[in-house]
Amino acid sequence: MSKRIDVTDLNVYYGKFKAVEGVNLSIQPRTVTAFIGPSGCGKSTFLRTLNRMHEVIPGAYVEGRVELDGDNLYAPEVDPVMVRREVGMVFQRPNPFPTMSIKENVLAGVRLNSRRISAAQANEIAERSLRQANLWNEVKDRLNSPGSGLSGGQQQRLCIARAIAVRPEVILMDEPCSALDPISTLAIEDLIGELKEVYTVVIVTHNMQQASRVSDQTAFFNLAAQGKPGRLIEVGATETIFSNPTKKATEDYITGRFG
Ligand SMILES: Nc1ncnc2c1ncn2[C@@H]1O[C@H](COP(=O)(O)OP(=O)(O)OP(=O)(O)O)[C@@H](O)[C@H]1O
Ligand SMILES: [Mg+2]
Repeated sequence: MSKRIDVTDLNVYYGKFKAVEGVNLSIQPRTVTAFIGPSGCGKSTFLRTLNRMHEVIPGAYVEGRVELDGDNLYAPEVDPVMVRREVGMVFQRPNPFPTMSIKENVLAGVRLNSRRISAAQANEIAERSLRQANLWNEVKDRLNSPGSGLSGGQQQRLCIARAIAVRPEVILMDEPCSALDPISTLAIEDLIGELKEVYTVVIVTHNMQQASRVSDQTAFFNLAAQGKPGRLIEVGATETIFSNPTKKATEDYITGRFG
């Protein structure tokens, strides 16, 4: 598991509106990359191009290349459903299926993908995924209770378990902690540190401390002006970006002078 991502000359559109322009970026396997930048600069939009979720919006499309270990995700023969199996996603608000049990939430993606799994396999996948998501001990005695009965932080870890259950190569997270309290946030950050042993992780965050705590590489996006496309301004080792950025806009942003 875990693959590298190479993005070349990527432009991202919503119909006629070019939301993101000219992105070139490489992401190594078994690392965490943080996307930072002011609201509206296209972080979420760009993130969703990495598993072809962008194009589910009518009129939305991309130009350029996104490669997963050298394979172009946008090649005509590629099935976007397969891409989303390899590149999983966790959203800003925990979104467990409210009427499904904890266990069935974990298995939701697996059941969608494979025709049939035995009860023993289902138990094994649920336990493995919940353990990897650091949630097993908290829920092992109530696997058949509804997922909506968990706390926000637990629900987010449940969603991470659900993403892991299908054994993806890459996990994309769009502000996964923005709806969580500080304790749950730290739990997720610890978990991200563990996940990168196995997966390629990409996280969008507005929290500079979080970016510097969890990521190996940081990519700063910005807008030239309202209505203009977002661009990748600077990318590099997180330590360098936070201590010694080369661009003034990066420095202004990370020191809180704008955005
Ligand atoms: N479904 C959509 N249709 C049309 N335009 C959109 C859509 N979603 C986002 N946009 C536009 O694309 C641009 C980038 O938005 P995006 O949500 O990617 O920014 P962001 O960096 O994730 O912001 P935030 O930090 O607030 O989440 C914005 O101008 C936004 O209005
Ligand atoms: Mg966003």
